[in-house]
Order: sequence, then C-alpha cells, then structure tokens
Amino acid sequence: MANRKLVAGNWKMHGTADSIAEIVRIAAAVPAGVDVALCLPATLIERAARAVPGFAIGGQDVHGEAKGAFTGDLAAHQLHDAGARLVIVGHSERRDGHRESDGQVRAKAISAMAAALDVILCVGESFAEREAGRAVATVSAQLDASLPPAAPDAVAYEPIWAIGTGRIPSLEDIGEMHSALRGRLVALYGEAGVAVRLLYGGSVKPSNAAEIFGVADVDGALVGGASLTAADFLPIVVAAANS
Ligand code: PGA
Repeated sequence: MANRKLVAGNWKMHGTADSIAEIVRIAAAVPAGVDVALCLPATLIERAARAVPGFAIGGQDVHGEAKGAFTGDLAAHQLHDAGARLVIVGHSERRDGHRESDGQVRAKAISAMAAALDVILCVGESFAEREAGRAVATVSAQLDASLPPAAPDAVAYEPIWAIGTGRIPSLEDIGEMHSALRGRLVALYGEAGVAVRLLYGGSVKPSNAAEIFGVADVDGALVGGASLTAADFLPIVVAAANS
C-alpha cells in the first residue's frame, strides 16, 4: 500500500505576525487523505500553533544536543514546547550556509526524535554532481551518513540546483533517485524503511505538482516559495490528495 502523502511547506526566513492569517487560511482548507505541515521561522511557531490547533507546525532546524551553551540555537524539546510537531534537518541551506556535516545532521535527527518531533531529513546533489553522473551515488552516501538509527518520518530529496530556481529534474531522474533511496531505506530499516515518506523538493509548484506526485515512490513534497500563500500551496496539497 502506498504511503499517505505529506506536503510540507518550508517558509525559510519569511513571515511575521501578519502571516498568521495566511496560515489559518491554509489550515482551514486542507482536504482529507493527505498530511500537511508548515515549517515556520522559530519566531512564529508558538503563535501559529495556537492559531491552528491540530494542524502540524514545524521548525526548520534543531541543535543536536538536548541542552547547553549554544548561543542562538534551539533544542528539540524547546521546539516541542513551543508547539512544533516536526522539524526539518539537513536542508542544503543549512549544510552549505552553516557547514553542517552529515554527522551533525544525524545528531539533529536523533535529538529531534528523542523529543517526539517527526523528522524530515533532506539530501540532495549539486548541479556539478548531477552533470558528472554522480547524483545517485552522492545522495545515497549522504543519506547513509545522515540517517539516525531509527527510521525518520520522511526523507526529502532536494537537488540543490532545483531549489528556488524554477528548474526540476526530469520525472525519470526523480523516479531513479527515489527508487535508489527507497532501496537504501529498506536495506537499513527493513519494513520500517517502506513507511519512510520520500518527499521531492525543489521548485514544486501548482503547475508541476500532479506529475511529480505521479512518480513511483514520491510520497509528497517539501515546498519552499510556493508554500507562502494559500493560493499557491493549496493546489499542491489538493494534487497530493488526488494522486
Ligand atoms: P523551493 O524550495 O520550493 O522554493 O524551490 C524548496 C526547499 O528549499 O525546501
């Protein structure tokens, strides 16, 4: 049986108090049969969680330690305390912009799961790696080194060159990657690896969502720019519900 789809929005460094109305609009219109979440800037998590009780609000990063002297960082239990139910770890903007290693991503996933947060763990290749024919090998190695000992809720395949660019891989390339990642997950976790939701991320829009959701082993999407408004995000959610 196919996994229930998950469409998660990644708001990145966008959103202030006046965005709560948009979050309410999105939460109010979620159809049956699909899971939907919004991963918000930390400053909005508690307000959003209060405004849309029962709707999944998440964070975008978490520290690998449960507590300590880490100025500016957030622990998993603090995110949970604020109302978050999930968190993204290992986004390429963290891996590249903050030099996060696979080992750190793994520690983040472990600490998040220990605090009862669902994890969306991101992996993805650069354009040079894809051009060199090394996409599957690179992403598989990244996955192996980043995965926690217990199966996370979701893994997001996000080619770095597709994020925010309007470009996406061919559907064949998405299918090839998701099938390879499914193989790694099953090899590592057995049956639990079948239940890990494999999301595609990178320039998902209302115009391409249905065809992406039609690819085997695509169990949803991680959506950046198109998750900021109900007008863009809800058609993607509906495409997932109908797929
Ligand atoms: P995008 O971002 O949808 O704006 O390309 C996706 C992401 O970074 O998760």
